[in-house]
Amino acid sequence: MKSFQQFYNELNEAVKYTDDKNIALLAMHGLSLRDQMHLFHWQTEVGDMHTALGNFYDKFLEQLDGLMEVVMGKYGRFSVKTLGSPAPLQDLQEADVEGLMERYVQIFEGYKDTTFANDPEIVNIIDEILASIQKLKYLLTMS
Ligand SMILES: [Fe+2]
Repeated sequence: MKSFQQFYNELNEAVKYTDDKNIALLAMHGLSLRDQMHLFHWQTEVGDMHTALGNFYDKFLEQLDGLMEVVMGKYGRFSVKTLGSPAPLQDLQEADVEGLMERYVQIFEGYKDTTFANDPEIVNIIDEILASIQKLKYLLTMS
């Protein structure tokens, strides 16, 4: 199974191009983030963290859905044929949650600067997603 670092490196290479694989990777990273936060939501023993994570993945999934539909409106449907396995899930007890969230911030920031550098309508949606992630980072400092 690929480590998160390998997955991240692969993405950094891929985001240089607006192609099918690159867009599929965006979708996969988004779904991976949602799943990871849902797993943390189940594993935490802190009520505030449970709530913050639950609120995040609900809103984030809607934002990701909107993002992918706008991206496909512009660039067409994508296939996941060229992708390998999805990013591995991590247990909360062993995860560097702050570091993990920062990586996802960098992933979405990377898409703004490269793949979608000429697509302000897509960048706007990514900015809303980044705001959700930053808000969650703040809320998690309280638990
Ligand atoms: Fe729940």
